[in-house]
Amino acid sequence: MRTITMDLSNVLAGAVGENGIEENDLRLTLGKLSEYYARLLTKPFPFMMLPSMRFQFNEMNALAERVSKMNIKNLVILGIGGSSLGTQTIFEALLHPFHNMDERFRNGKPRYFILDNIDPHKMTAVVETVLPDIDRTLLVVISKSGETPETISQFMLFNELMKKADGYRDRIILITDIDKGLLNTIAQKEGYAVLNLPPGIGGRFSVLTPVGLFPSLLMGINIKKMSDGAAGMAAHIVRYDAEENMAFTLAAILYLMYKNGKPIHVMMPYCERLAAFANWFRQLEAESLGKKGSGPTPARSVGVTDQHSQLQLYVEGPKDKCILLLYSATSEAPIPDSFGYLDDVAYLANKDMKDLFHAEFQGTRMSLTDAGTPNIALMLDEVSDYNIGALFYLFEMVTAFMGNLLGVNAFAQPGVEQGKIYTKAMMGKEGFEKEKEKTDNFLCCPVRQIIF
Ligand code: PA5
Repeated sequence: MRTITMDLSNVLAGAVGENGIEENDLRLTLGKLSEYYARLLTKPFPFMMLPSMRFQFNEMNALAERVSKMNIKNLVILGIGGSSLGTQTIFEALLHPFHNMDERFRNGKPRYFILDNIDPHKMTAVVETVLPDIDRTLLVVISKSGETPETISQFMLFNELMKKADGYRDRIILITDIDKGLLNTIAQKEGYAVLNLPPGIGGRFSVLTPVGLFPSLLMGINIKKMSDGAAGMAAHIVRYDAEENMAFTLAAILYLMYKNGKPIHVMMPYCERLAAFANWFRQLEAESLGKKGSGPTPARSVGVTDQHSQLQLYVEGPKDKCILLLYSATSEAPIPDSFGYLDDVAYLANKDMKDLFHAEFQGTRMSLTDAGTPNIALMLDEVSDYNIGALFYLFEMVTAFMGNLLGVNAFAQPGVEQGKIYTKAMMGKEGFEKEKEKTDNFLCCPVRQIIF
C-alpha cells in the first residue's frame, strides 16, 4: 500500500544546481542519523511510544459516550500553542469546511470553537454565540502545565458562564499533565472530569494524546485509525534504512538546506484541508529548533492561492528558501463548457478542477526547479485519519532528528517560558516582584517614539 510518496528529486544538486544538496552530503548525514536512531531506540523519547501506547483510549471512549447522550450544540475548546494547533489541524483536515455553518455537514455533531487567542473581540463574539445555548455547551480546557495565563483566564471566564446552567459540572472536561498543575487542583475541587497527558510529552508533541485525540473523538473522527497511521509511520522508520527512510531523509534534507544557506523552510500545501497542518509544522519547527542563536525559520503558503502572492518571491527572490510542498486532490469538481463560443477557454472546458489543481501543483514544482529553488513534494493518496496520523508522527520524528543534527534540545522552550514570566509579573502575580521591576522599567520610558 502506498499512501504517502516523497519526491526529493528537485532538492538535489542534479536538479537545482548549486542551491541543491550533493548526494555525498546526503549520504553522510543519513549515516549520522542511522547511528543516532540506533542509540535513540535504546531510550526513545516518550512521544515515540504514543502510537503503540493508545494512552487513555478507554477513558476517552467512556467520556465521549457520556457526552454523546447530552445533546451538545457547542464544543468550546480552550488551549494555546501545542494545546490547540493539533486539534485545529485535525478538524480542518477531516471535517467539512463549513461544519459550523450548516447542520447538514455536521452529522449530528456540535459546532466547535477553538479559542487559541485571548483577543477580547473574538472572546466576546464566541461568548455571544454560545451563551443562548450554554446549557448545551461542552467546555474542554487543555493545558499541559495547567498554568498558562491565556488558558486559565479564558477558563475563569467560561467557568462562570457555564455555571448559569444546571448540570454544568458534567459539561466541563480538563486535559492536563498527570498530577501537576492548577487544572488538576481545580478538577479535584470542582469535580470536573480529567484526561491526562502521559509524562514527558511537551505541548507540540502531544497531538496524539488526549490533547488532540479527545476533541477529535467528540467530532466522530476515527482516532484509532489516526493512531494506526502514526504506528504505520513508526514501523516504516524502524524498518527502512537510510535512503529508503522517509523521516531520516526529510530530516537530512531540511538540515542540509539550513546549513547550505536555505534557513527558510516554506511548507506549501496544495490542499486547503492541509493548510492548518502547515501552522502545526510552523510551531513544531520554530519552537523545537529555534535555539542558541540558530534554527530554521518555518513559513507557510497555500497552493494555489499563494501562487498569486508568494510564488514570485520563491522563484526570483533570494535563494534562501527550501519549499516543502504537500499535495492531495481526490474530490472531483467538473468544469462545464459554459462559454462554448470562446476558443480561449476551450482548454478548461469539460475538464475537472482536480486536473487544473494538479497541473498547477506540477507547474509550480517545475517553475521552482527551473529557477534553482530546491523543493520537495509529499503527495498523499487521500486526506484521511490514517494519513494525518502518519504525517504527525513523521514530522515529530523529523524534528527530533533535526534537533540532534543541530545540537539543540528540541523539547524545551525557554523563550516561550520567559514571555509567560513577564506576563505574570505585569499582571501582578505574587513572587514575580523582581520581574515586575524590570517590566516597569522597560515600559516607563521609551527612548524613541513617533506619535501620529
Ligand atoms: O509546545 C509547547 O510546549 C507550547 O507551545 C505549549 O503547548 C503552550 O505554551 C501552551 O502550554 P500549556 O499546554 O502548558 O498551556
